[in-house]
Parts: sequence; structure tokens; C-alpha cells
Amino acid sequence: MRVLILGGTTEASALVAALARRNGVVPVLSLAGRTERPVLPDVAFRIGGFGGADGLAAYLQNEAIDAIVDATHPFAARMCWNAAQACARTGVPILRFGRPAWAAVPGDRWIDVPTVEAAAAVLGESPRRVFLTVGRLSLPAFGAAPQHHYVVRSIDAPEDLSMLPHRRLLLARGPFDAEAEEALMRAEAVEILVTKNSGGPATAGKIAAARRLSLPVVMVARPPRPSMPAAGSVEDVVAWLEAHRSRP
Ligand SMILES: NC(=O)c1ccc[n+]([C@@H]2O[C@H](COP(=O)([O-])OP(=O)(O)OC[C@H]3O[C@@H](n4cnc5c(N)ncnc54)[C@H](OP(=O)(O)O)[C@@H]3O)[C@@H](O)[C@H]2O)c1
Repeated sequence: MRVLILGGTTEASALVAALARRNGVVPVLSLAGRTERPVLPDVAFRIGGFGGADGLAAYLQNEAIDAIVDATHPFAARMCWNAAQACARTGVPILRFGRPAWAAVPGDRWIDVPTVEAAAAVLGESPRRVFLTVGRLSLPAFGAAPQHHYVVRSIDAPEDLSMLPHRRLLLARGPFDAEAEEALMRAEAVEILVTKNSGGPATAGKIAAARRLSLPVVMVARPPRPSMPAAGSVEDVVAWLEAHRSRP
């Protein structure tokens, strides 16, 4: 059974590693190619877009793919729709495998916003010291609020940061624990955190640190996804694949 895993996430990497050890399942990991030094798996992989839903449908047929697991990032807003469309057209079954969103707990001071543009607007007129952890591709939106001092954290260096005249760039890849995040936020005199609601433990430390420091958090909501069956663990994905494998 050939399984295409749409990746770019720690969930996808964990799934690929688990499936590589199973008989009868051949995982193929697909990456968009956004990260300069991606963590590559020991199994078959491909890098780059498919060319929309049509390109993906053709790929599914040419490569004799039996099932897709959509393990893309919760903020990858387009790929999931393309995949749902291509699967509807070809009859290939698809499963969503992703992390639940973070939920506020007592002590959190979240300001919920629908988009990164709204996040930039909600920072207000007066200059503030902002810890900005939205991913380098979403940084241009904050050019609309250039008065703030931004501590920008990103895995890869952003191409252009000139729209943020007052900034400090930190290049780092998680996981980040709460203690280190708290120390960083203190050292940078951060007044407010901006984050996407990515979910998952690897980057949750900043949320806990903001809670401890009683700092507000601008929380960008996830974009909508198509409805499809979903799994919350590698074991659930394996069970779903087994159920489809045993079908005639
Ligand atoms: N957005 C984030 O905040 C974020 C954070 C961490 C990781 N990632 C990962 O980075 C990748 C790109 O994110 P994005 O926000 O640009 O996604 P997107 O908006 O959903 O996708 C844009 C286009 O990139 C291609 N693409 C996306 N994911 C792909 C994959 N796994 N394999 C092959 N092609 C893919 C597709 O091109 P075609 O139409 O040509 O097929 C898609 O139409 C995703 O794989 C995602 O899991 C994203």
C-alpha cells in the first residue's frame, strides 16, 4: 500500500518513521520545499508543489498512491483543499493527521484575532516590544505597524525585514521550553507575544512563559480546513490505513 504523506511538520516526520517499520506500507513523504535545510527521512520523499489539485490528482494516478495522510501544518491554508479536491476526483481516501489547537487556561491573557493582518492592527498605535513568532512568510503583514520593536524568531532568515525598522532577529528551530522562553522574554523586555495557534508541545513554552509573566498574547486563529476523517495519533493513522488496506 503506497501512502502519500503531506508533510512539513513534526507529526509527518513521526508518522513516516512509524510507517517505515511496518510491512506492507510504503510511505512517500511530500514537502513543499519552503525550509532551507529540511529534516529528510530515510524513506522515499519528494520536494515541491504538485501544480494544484489537477497536478496532485495526476500524481496520485501516476504513482499509484492508495491513500493520503494530510499532515500539513495547521496554517498551511491551501494544500489541504487541493488534496481534498484531488481525492474526491480520484477516489483515493484521505485522512487528516494534526495537532489540536492550544486552548486558553486560567491566567492566560489572549487576544484572539482571525488573521496576521488583524494581529498587526491590534498591537495599537503606541510602540511596544513585541515577540513575533508567526513564521517568516507572515512577517510582511507587520509592515503595517512599523512603530513597534519586534523580537522576530524564525527557523530560516527572512528574505527582507526592511518593513520592520526596529527589530532583532533570532534564528532558531524548536522545541523551546518554558524556562528558556521566560528568560528570553525577560531579557528582551517583551511586552506582548504574537503567535499563530499552531498547537503542539514543541512551541507551547512561549504560551506558558507569557502566562507566568502575565503578558498578553495575540493569538491568530487557524484558517478553515475541508472536513474529512481525522486522526490524533500515529496509532489512529495506522488503524485507518489497516482498515483501508483490508478493503478489496
Ligand atoms: N504555513 C505555516 O505556518 C507552516 C508552518 C510550518 C510548516 N509549514 C509547512 O510548510 C509547507 C508550506 O506551507 P504553506 O503555508 O505555503 O502551505 P499552503 O499555503 O497550504 O500551500 C501552498 C502551496 O505549496 C505547495 N505545498 C504545500 N504543502 C506541500 C507539501 N506538503 N508537499 C508538496 N507541496 C506542498 C502546494 O503547491 P501546488 O499547488 O503546486 O501543489 C500548495 O498549493 C507545508 O508543507 C506545511 O506543512 C507551514
